[in-house]
Formats: sequence, C-alpha cells, structure tokens
Amino acid sequence: MKIGVIGTGYVGLVTGTCLAELGHEVICVDALPQKIDLLNDGGCPIYEPGLIELIRKQRQAERLSFSTDLAAMAPDRDAIFLAVGTPPGPDGEADLGFVRAAVRDLAPHLAGFTAVVTKSTVPVGTGDQIDAMLADLRPDADVAVVSNPEFLREGSAIGDFLKPDRIVVGTDDLRARETMQALYAPLTDGGAPLLITDRRTSELIKYAANAFLAVKISYINEIADLCEELGADAARVAEGMGLDARIGARFLEPGPGFGGSCFPKDTDALLGTGRAAAVPLRVVTAASEANRERKRLLAARVAAVAGELKGRTVAVLGLTFKAGTDDMREAASLELIPELQRRGAKVRAFDPKGMEAARDLLPGVAFCRDAYDAAKSASAVVILTEWPNFRTLDLKRLGAVVETPLLIDMRNLFHPEDATRAGFDYVSIGRPA
Ligand code: UGA
Repeated sequence: MKIGVIGTGYVGLVTGTCLAELGHEVICVDALPQKIDLLNDGGCPIYEPGLIELIRKQRQAERLSFSTDLAAMAPDRDAIFLAVGTPPGPDGEADLGFVRAAVRDLAPHLAGFTAVVTKSTVPVGTGDQIDAMLADLRPDADVAVVSNPEFLREGSAIGDFLKPDRIVVGTDDLRARETMQALYAPLTDGGAPLLITDRRTSELIKYAANAFLAVKISYINEIADLCEELGADAARVAEGMGLDARIGARFLEPGPGFGGSCFPKDTDALLGTGRAAAVPLRVVTAASEANRERKRLLAARVAAVAGELKGRTVAVLGLTFKAGTDDMREAASLELIPELQRRGAKVRAFDPKGMEAARDLLPGVAFCRDAYDAAKSASAVVILTEWPNFRTLDLKRLGAVVETPLLIDMRNLFHPEDATRAGFDYVSIGRPA
C-alpha cells in the first residue's frame, strides 16, 4: 500500500519506518528541511535502539523515503498518518496547532480515496474537528478521518510496533476500516489483536490507558513509601500483587516518579477533558499530584540521608526520564538537580545518551566521562535511571573514588547485600536499608 506520514518526530519516524518494514511504500514528510536532509544523509534526529538500522534497511529496499514536498507526497496515498506534535497548552490541554496546520497544508493535495489517520495523541473529538476542517476546505475530497493511537514506549518502540499487544482503530467508515485492516494485516495475521471502535472511543482508549499506567506507578510509589516506614519490601509486595492476573506484574516498579513526554502530559490533558465535561477524575488527579510532589521532594530525600549538602558533591547517574532514550522531557533529574544546587551542593553527572540534551537544561552541572568519573569525591551517589550499564557497575571501584560511600538507588538496581558488602551505605526505594 502507499502510505504518507506527516511529521518525522519520534512517533512519525517509528511509524513510517515500521510500516515500510511491513512491506508498504512509505514517504515521510516534514516541514523542517534540516531534519529531512539529516535523514536523507543516513542520520537520525532521535536516539531509539534499532531505528537507524531499520531506516537504512528500508531506504535500501526503496520502501522508505523522506521529503519536504507534501504536495508531491499526498495524492493517491491509501493512508496519510498525522504524526505531528501535540504539546501541552497553557491549561494542560493538548495544543492542536500543529495538527490543524498539517490538515490545512494537506487538504489541497488530496486525490483519490485517502484515510487520514491521527497517530499523534489527540483529545477526544479531534477526529470530528479534522472532519469538519476537511469538509470545509475540500468538500469534494474523498476522505475518511481515522483514529489509530500509538502505544510505543521510548527505548522499545520498534518491538512495540512490530509485536503490539493490540492495534486500536477508530472509524465508522467501511472503506477506511478495510484500508486499516489491510495495512496492519502483516501484524494481525501474526496474531496481533485488532480492536475497531468508533473514533471517539479510540481517541479515549489512548488517554485512558496512559492514565491507568500512571495511576499504577503512583500507586506502587506510595506503597513503596509505606514499605520504607513499615520495614517491608516493595519489590516483594509488587511481586505478590503482580502474580494476581487481574493486577499484572508490569509497571509496578517504584522509582523517582514518572516522566517523559507522555504520562505527565496525557494525564493533565485527560484531566482537562474531564473538567470540560464536568466529570471529576479523582483517581487520575491524585496520581498526577502524587507524582508531581514525589519529584519535587527528591532532593529532600537525598538530604534526609546525606545530611547537610552545602559545599558537598553529589553524583547523579542517569539524567533522561528513563533508560534507553536520550529524551530529557519531564525527567526526574530536572527536579532533583536544581534543588540540590539550590541547597549548595555541587553536582557531577553522567548519562550514556542524555548529556547533550541535558547540557542546556542543567546549568552548573559537571558532565562526566563515566559513572566513576562522576562519583569522584562525592558525598552521595544517586542513581536516577535504570541504564543496564549501571547495574553492572563495579561498586568496589566506585567506592574507591567517592568521599562518603553512600549510594541512593532510586531504581533498585542492586541487591542491598551486594552494595553493603562493597562498603556502601545503601538506600533504595521501598526496601529495608
Ligand atoms: C508511555 C507508554 O508506556 C506507552 O505505551 C505510550 O505509547 C507512550 O507513553 C506514549 O503515550 O507515547 P514512555 O513514556 O515511552 O511510554 O515510557 P514508559 O516506559 O511508559 O515510562 C514512563 C515513565 O514511567 C518513566 O519515567 C519510567 O521510568 C516510569 N516508570 C515506568 C516507573 O517509574 N515504573 C514502572 O514500573 C514503569
């Protein structure tokens, strides 16, 4: 099939590349020539494991190409995916400016039946708005607007796309439905469930799923706080809960609070939708507030065990919002580090992928070569993300360079006995010291 993708951000690039991998002929379009030039030169504007290799493979197979020319891409595509950004507006609700601009730019060039598919996370009712825009701009066009939310995790997006838990498609249009069924046939033939709903339901599934996962994380984080007070082990509590198939074991890892471009933004957007509909979403409100507060208090957590921070050095290992990405959006480090600095601490930091982006966001931080370099003369070493390299750190070697052997592990990467044996005072999340 002939596919177009508008927007070569995270979602657009992964979607376009993976659709090419399914055998379709895909053109990805972006308004920014420097992005397209980079992609055409064999580069990739984002870090996502396996993506650059897959782009290379699909370009060689001539199934994937990049262009700034929307007018040339648009005619006679079976489906055109809108994968432009939907950043939070001033009141937390998603700003649809880029979506509207993309529809306006696209409308004049539509020819032949086209499914116009929203891949970006958009508030319920956006499909209706796009429908109305297209009816106004191109009453003659043969189009159907479809919702097809993405469920990709940064760091494992390609696997998530090619082996999805489910594919959700929202449309009442028969031809669009057939188009989407054919498009995803290589995945559904392999057993991926396809759920077809009306458009509004599909739009809401995305928010409801993300908000539920956010609730799950805030829930286990609060249980972990309770474990610390009661001398229980949050990891075992999560294990015991997760064995109940109704609960499930995944997404029950306590940590510094959720970040990233999705959970904080999508919970806020859902709360905005709830307010507009006069439906109080109390559970989601609590999860969002608990998370904000958790991240605000990270430095206090460090000070509670390290004592006075003024003039002392704190090493922070991991800066991105989670491992496997270079994405700094809503990362816990952006809350922790400025507050450590405000309290007078010097911060040395290391991240395997995030330091380039972090440099502009975290002034005054000494960015280091590796974890051992960051730990030099530190009064406390704080682990913020679960990079696999941190799990295999040589704690003896780390202990030899620090000033005070205090390890505050906010991702529970180590067995407490191992850390203690290596000479560290070890503090983790929701586990007995
Ligand atoms: C999330 C969802 O998992 C995807 O399904 C969804 O498609 C995506 O948002 C999106 O809406 O685009 P992502 O933000 O990439 O994906 O990352 P997650 O792996 O979900 O992690 C989000 C945050 O929760 C991270 O800060 C992570 O460290 C934290 N987390 C996750 C925990 O603290 N504990 C857990 O058990 C799991």
